[in-house]
Amino acid sequence: MATVSDIIAFVQESVGHSLRSDEGVQHGSAEDEVENVVVCWMATREALRRAGEAGADLVIGHESLYYPYNAVNRTDLPGGWQAWRINRTRAELLDAHRLTFVRLHGSLDELCIFDDFAAKLGLGEPVQADGLAKVYEIEPCTLRELADRVKERAGMAHVRVSAPDGLDRAVSRVGLPWGGLGLFVNVGYQQKLLEAGCDVLIAGEACSYGFRFSAECGVPMIETSHEGSENPGLRHFCDILRERFPELNIEFFEVAPSWGWH
Ligand SMILES: [Fe+2]
Ligand SMILES: [Fe+2]
Repeated sequence: MATVSDIIAFVQESVGHSLRSDEGVQHGSAEDEVENVVVCWMATREALRRAGEAGADLVIGHESLYYPYNAVNRTDLPGGWQAWRINRTRAELLDAHRLTFVRLHGSLDELCIFDDFAAKLGLGEPVQADGLAKVYEIEPCTLRELADRVKERAGMAHVRVSAPDGLDRAVSRVGLPWGGLGLFVNVGYQQKLLEAGCDVLIAGEACSYGFRFSAECGVPMIETSHEGSENPGLRHFCDILRERFPELNIEFFEVAPSWGWH
C-alpha cells in the first residue's frame, strides 16, 4: 500500500527537486498508509468535512492550512493564532477524522497548475519563458474583446479590469499572474512580466495595490479568481496521481471563490 512518503517522492521526482520549505506533511505522519485521498485548493472546513465523509486518510491542499498565511513555518505569529475559530475548526476536523495533511504548493504550480490555467484561457505555447514567467502572443484584439473572452473561458459573469488607457486599446502579449501572483505581496512577478514586454496581464486574484502596480506602468490587468485559476490544475493533478497510484481512491474537492457578485 502506498504511504504519504511515496506520494511526496513521486511529486519530487516529477518536478526534479525536493519539496519547498512551505510544503510537506503539516499534520499527521509521512509514514501513514493511504487508501483514500482528497485533493483541494485549500483545506477549508467544507473540504475537511467532505474528506471525513469520504473516509479519506490524506488531504492534499495547495494553500496554507492555517491563518496567518503559512503559519506552520513562521516565527512572527500573533499570540493565540491557534485558537482563532477558523484554525481551531480545521485542526479539530483533521484530528476528528484522523487526517494527514500535505501541502503541495509551488511544486504543483510547476507540475501542472500554471500550464492548465494557460490552457483554460485557450493560449498556445509561450513565446518566451523564464521558469514560470511565461509570455504568450495572441492575435491583436482590444482589451474589451480579451476581457469578454476571459469571462467566457473562466465561466464568469463579470471580471475586474484595470484599463489605464481604456478598453479599446489593442493588446497582444499576455502574461499570467496566476493564483495570487496579482496580489501586492507578489508584485515582483508582475515586474518580471513587464520587463518581458507583456502588454496585458490575466491574473488569478489581484487587489487594489496589485492592479495599480501594472496600471501605473500603462499595462492593464484582467482578474479571474485565485481558486478558478488553480482548480483546473489541481483537478489534473488527481489524474496524474491516479495514473501513478491506480490503487488509490482520489477525489477532487472543488473549493469555490469565497465571494460573489451581487
Ligand atoms: Fe499556486
Ligand atoms: Fe495560490
